[in-house]
Amino acid sequence: RRYSVIASVIKEANVGEVTEVKGWVKNLRVQKELVFADISDGSCAKKLQIVIPKHLKTDELTYGSSVRVIGKLSKSPRGQLELAAEDVKVLGECVVLDGYPFNPRTTHSAEYIRQYLHLRCRTNYISALLRIRNAVSKHIHNYFDTKNYLHIHTPILTSNDCEGAGEVFKVLPDNKDTIKAMMQQDKNVDNVYFGSKTFLTVSGQLHLEAMCRGLGNVYTLGPTFRAENSRSRLHLSEFYMLEAELAFCENLEDLQSSIEDLLKYIFIETRNTNEDDLYLIDKEKNKPPTWLDKKFITITYTEAKDILKRKGLPDTEDGINKEQELALVAHCDNVPVFIVRWPKEQKSFYMKESQDNTKVEALDLLAPITGEIVGGSLREDDYKKLKLKLPSEALNWYLELRKFGNIPTGGYGLGLERLLQVLCSVPNIKDTLPFPRWPHNCDM
Ligand code: 4AD
Ligand code: MG
Repeated sequence: RRYSVIASVIKEANVGEVTEVKGWVKNLRVQKELVFADISDGSCAKKLQIVIPKHLKTDELTYGSSVRVIGKLSKSPRGQLELAAEDVKVLGECVVLDGYPFNPRTTHSAEYIRQYLHLRCRTNYISALLRIRNAVSKHIHNYFDTKNYLHIHTPILTSNDCEGAGEVFKVLPDNKDTIKAMMQQDKNVDNVYFGSKTFLTVSGQLHLEAMCRGLGNVYTLGPTFRAENSRSRLHLSEFYMLEAELAFCENLEDLQSSIEDLLKYIFIETRNTNEDDLYLIDKEKNKPPTWLDKKFITITYTEAKDILKRKGLPDTEDGINKEQELALVAHCDNVPVFIVRWPKEQKSFYMKESQDNTKVEALDLLAPITGEIVGGSLREDDYKKLKLKLPSEALNWYLELRKFGNIPTGGYGLGLERLLQVLCSVPNIKDTLPFPRWPHNCDM
């Protein structure tokens, strides 16, 4: 007999072959002579039906238990692949009365299953989302590989606050003896380990910019940390950001078309690779988005403010808030929309000044469900202008990049979790990764 994961058992469909599968019981129907069990092992969205003669059914074989089954693959009268069990072994019991939180008769809400982060990968919703997450990250690497970008590992520990929004987590050693010994060299406890304040990265951009000026187009996909005091359905303290930096990029239009191309690629590829998972998440909502064959819309920040005024949405003095972002997307018939050329004072120091020098060459891409999904810009490449805006001398290395063989570049950051929200119509970002972190939630 051959042990296979259910994904390959179903794919190969070797009817007549004696096969061994292992997994969890997702559904159990006990009839007069036979017991039907649906088994899932996480390898795919599909479950394998196991047909078990009554005498092999033990009390331990329940919903949620883990099992090993040996049997012969056959086709059901309706043409469905199934396994006729010859041997069934319960590997781990699952006693619902002991507190197992799920049962097959209830459609549990996302809020309910979020209380059980350690068990929720057993649910259809979360397992499908995590398989899609896995696929999306592969598609991202494939995309950049075919476009000849280099994948760069940017550091997680850093001394820069790239975005300057004051949302950094500080990193300090926890060992009292180390601290004591090191304090003799520098009295400031913040500096004790590295000799300067050290943070968890809020963005790998500045390091990517350095790599771009030598290696050409580069990207990174890694953990990013923000100490935002937000428990919203769109914010995490730890998320994954895809960041790309485009060498010799001189205008926003080039940056926009590369973002649009990437997003459409990911959406199309994921529909090819994970259709069953998308269906498992939501049969109705996860139809291909209507915008896939449309061009993304572009409006300037000034135009966006005018549209909002005409719509009578309460005007916020600065920026565009979440409600306004979603109103702008609705205004654009739910086609993603780039908001370009933002007031200088609302954006970070590294962004390139526009011809109208009150603005910068910045973009936000707004999408249905999340609003902002991408933030990017052309980078200030004028040494003198950048020097004036540099937030700290500690970034002199970054300034120096403009001195030696400088090139124009532009880049962007795409939140992986927000992308998954848009791709799979997921209202709450906390469901797009296994162990979400947000204020007061890091126990598990
Ligand atoms: O707009 P942001 O802050 O841009 C940057 O960090 C740039 N340095 C990127 C670059 O140009 N290389 O963040 C980019 C994206 C946002 O549009 C959003 O999708 C996501 O990162 N993001 C978050 N996702 C989840 N939780 C949070 N707290 C997030 N903050 C930003
Ligand atoms: Mg942003």
